[in-house]
Amino acid sequence: MRLLFKNIKELIQVRPKPISFVSGKQLKELPSIKNAYLLVENGLIADFGTMATCQNLSADTVIDATGKMILPAWCDSHTHLVYAGNREGEFVDRINGLSYEEIARRGGGILNSAKKLQETSEDELYAQSKIRLEEIIQLGTGAVEIKSGYGLTVAAELKMLRVIKRLRENYPVEIKATFLGAHAVPEIYKNNKSGYLQLLIEELMPVIAQEKLAEFVDVFCETGYFTVEDTERILQAGKQYGLTPKIHVNQFTAIGGVQIGVQYDALSVDHLEVLRDEDVNALKNTRTMPVALPACSYFLSIPYTPARTIIDAGLPLALATDYNPGSTPSGNMNFVVATACIKMKMTPEEAINAATINGAYAMGLEKKTGSITIGKQANLLLTKPISSYGFIPYAFGASQIEKVYIKGKLMTV
Ligand code: NIG
Ligand code: FE
Repeated sequence: MRLLFKNIKELIQVRPKPISFVSGKQLKELPSIKNAYLLVENGLIADFGTMATCQNLSADTVIDATGKMILPAWCDSHTHLVYAGNREGEFVDRINGLSYEEIARRGGGILNSAKKLQETSEDELYAQSKIRLEEIIQLGTGAVEIKSGYGLTVAAELKMLRVIKRLRENYPVEIKATFLGAHAVPEIYKNNKSGYLQLLIEELMPVIAQEKLAEFVDVFCETGYFTVEDTERILQAGKQYGLTPKIHVNQFTAIGGVQIGVQYDALSVDHLEVLRDEDVNALKNTRTMPVALPACSYFLSIPYTPARTIIDAGLPLALATDYNPGSTPSGNMNFVVATACIKMKMTPEEAINAATINGAYAMGLEKKTGSITIGKQANLLLTKPISSYGFIPYAFGASQIEKVYIKGKLMTV
């Protein structure tokens, strides 16, 4: 099967030589080819170049992209999109003055979602979750990481991870699974957090490793949730089971989560709304990707991750949604890219790099997706006719995407 796009106004994020991620000043460069063609063969990017060099290429399908642009599909490296029900009630409570932390202290928050999930069958959880996955594919996401962490019992955590596995088997987008048992301490372990960590390590991790249910391990390293010592215990054990750390740090308070992540070679440290100089310094000369989640800041009205500080320090940065029922009930990467530009002062080039190649790296997919590179999956966004790629974040709140292709197939979910 050969698919040829011709007369592409601009082919964006063209990386003839494979790269892992872009950092610092490089983030401002978004390589592109104007008036381009792109050839897809058997779901992979096979060739590309300027129209002047597109000679007599044969294809089963030819698409004329005059006036339109093509860029790699979004890479969303941080979501919790497998969950049961929603938390609209808490949304209204916050409007009426309660804080996210107060709601959690009153037994709402993550524990509220865990209760709902424990009462939901695996099939029903799958049915609810697949709607969200289909929705984000339509919005242009071509690869996504999904976490457990709303189960908080052995059975319910495994239920979540099995739902993620089913989604991976049934949809063409790449899906990576993360074990986030240490998301909150369940009520019955309220006075025995150590016992809960022991359960995660001794009862869950062996099964997860045996059944290959997750590749990454996460901890909500935060005041009132899990300390740096708790985090270290989980990461240490995770390492023994081959689980790579990708952790929640510095969302509300900076307690040393960045440092412990770096120490354990975390693939990413995510949130970072509260960032100290020492946290920025700890990330220098490492392979750990900082990940910002601006839709979470927007929804909770908390500070935005200081992207300029991070990028101007020469570090890389990825953007992800954090799609979850409590802090970010949206999986829209278009909104994330726009919000990064509008609220975090990232340029369109920086935001698109952060939402494609850097996002791919933050979930170990940089060899498969995130750029226009020969041999990578043809996960592509064909835009509507637009004046420039800067129009994508400029026209915030609306999608400029006309069609989404995953592994070369048009998505009409
Ligand atoms: O990334 N901060 C921890 N976890 C999620 C929110 C969890 C929830 O409120 O359900 C987050 O924001
Ligand atoms: Fe999260």
